[in-house]
Amino acid sequence: MPDYYIGIMSGTSLDGVDAVLAASSGTRVRVREKVHLPYPSRLRARLLALHDAGPDELHRSALLANELSALYASAVRRLLTRARVSARAVTAIGCHGQTVRHRPLAGYSLQLVNGARLAERTGITAVCDFRSRDIAAGGEGAPLAPAVHRALFADARRSRVIVNVGGIANITWLPVRGAVTGFDCGPGNCLLDAWIRLKRRKYYDAGGTWAASGRVVPSLLKKLLAHPFIRRRPPKSTGRDEFGLAWLQRALTGAERPVDVQATLLEFTATDIAQAVRSHCAGAREVFVCGGGARNGALLACLAALLPGQRIATTAALGVEPEHVEALAFAWLARQALRREPGNLPAVTGARGLRVLGAIYPK
Ligand SMILES: Nc1ncnc2c1ncn2[C@@H]1O[C@H](COP(=O)(O)OP(=O)(O)O)[C@@H](O)[C@H]1O
Ligand SMILES: [Mg+2]
Repeated sequence: MPDYYIGIMSGTSLDGVDAVLAASSGTRVRVREKVHLPYPSRLRARLLALHDAGPDELHRSALLANELSALYASAVRRLLTRARVSARAVTAIGCHGQTVRHRPLAGYSLQLVNGARLAERTGITAVCDFRSRDIAAGGEGAPLAPAVHRALFADARRSRVIVNVGGIANITWLPVRGAVTGFDCGPGNCLLDAWIRLKRRKYYDAGGTWAASGRVVPSLLKKLLAHPFIRRRPPKSTGRDEFGLAWLQRALTGAERPVDVQATLLEFTATDIAQAVRSHCAGAREVFVCGGGARNGALLACLAALLPGQRIATTAALGVEPEHVEALAFAWLARQALRREPGNLPAVTGARGLRVLGAIYPK
């Protein structure tokens, strides 16, 4: 019988919860069942408000962690019901939690989740707080996905790049020879989402069609590409606090048409990713995209135009649907934690060494 793990991810896009039931046997893990629970809009607004300093933060964050844990527990129940698997058959849940502050330079990264409550409500061992140990060891605590991308997607004959386009975009370089590297390269969907939300009251630009109907504003593109984070050398990681609406609005003259701003944001996002691939992944021939941004056809087309000669596809071509990769990553990280095996890659995060990641709440 396979060993079951559950992975739960709720990323910087604040779109909701992605959860997968993963069956692990030997070195393989594969998705058996999946669930997506969108955040109710009030919950999203309260989470967003906690990204900035404000009154009574401790109380608000504790209450939100409890509320999120109830949502995570209901995602677990749905997975098990749909797959007809009992809680007893699941070894552990790996739950990322919801990031509200990512400040590795200040020595912390904060993900809201109440692991005790999650274990109590599900009757399953919960593993949470995956980033703190890497930061304590001098690392960025992010990105964590590259170790998992290596385990799932590395190929002995082809050097590959995996690009996760969540709220923030991160890349993993999987060369045939040499060390696996990876870093956050900048915004993924966060600016695209924020702008269409402001101008058209939509949560995202489905397929990137609105962006594709506008024209790139070269002077704005140049200003955006001058962001210091983009020039910084890896290891590096970022969050939505660095690439928010406030920053975008400072770069605007006010004369741009909203649709052209969206087109420019798409070009900016793709250019930043393409630059990261060109400068850090010499010899790459294949780029596989995952995360919700993999559903943005205009973004994929833009990437293909900027990276001629590369095969551009989604991770579905490698057997994992793009929206399941990150949740699957946390199932894998939970398995590593229970086996007392490392979950970080020091070359990626900058940590002093390999570390077992996560805080374990036994069932
Ligand atoms: N059909 C689609 N077209 C364009 N963008 C999409 C589509 N589906 C999802 N997205 C984008 O993906 C985001 C969610 O991606 P996700 O990988 O969950 O990010 P995160 O890990 O930051 O939560 C949405 O906010 C949206 O921007
Ligand atoms: Mg998400």
